[in-house]
Amino acid sequence: EASIDVDISAIERGQAIKTSWRKQPIFIRNLTDKEMAEANAVPLSELRDPQTLAERTKPGKENWLITLGVCTHLGCIPLGAAEGEDKGPYGGYFCPCHGSAYDTAARIRKGPAPLNLQVPEYVFDTDTKVTIG
Ligand code: FES
Repeated sequence: EASIDVDISAIERGQAIKTSWRKQPIFIRNLTDKEMAEANAVPLSELRDPQTLAERTKPGKENWLITLGVCTHLGCIPLGAAEGEDKGPYGGYFCPCHGSAYDTAARIRKGPAPLNLQVPEYVFDTDTKVTIG
């Protein structure tokens, strides 16, 4: 299936949007400096699926967190990408199905999910446009 182009110019720091690709939800989040600092402050030894924020983003674009919006437990759509939704105890995403909590790098921190939210293939075409897939 074709890749998709997404205009990210309207996503402010601290905001996220949901889109979809290959019938799966995609979360695109513009992290604040505080959220990035929180992610970078966590020792990898505390992580179930150890990855740094830098490994989950693109060089120089570490504020853009692009993931599938699919809980790695049983596939529910976590909360936290839309305005006013519960981001959970680690400030990222929260899956209401069985209580998996993801941090500001969308890494699993608590609950039954085994893995971080998956990062899809994508490229930045410009500072305000990404192609996913
Ligand atoms: Fe998300 Fe079970 S599907 S916690």
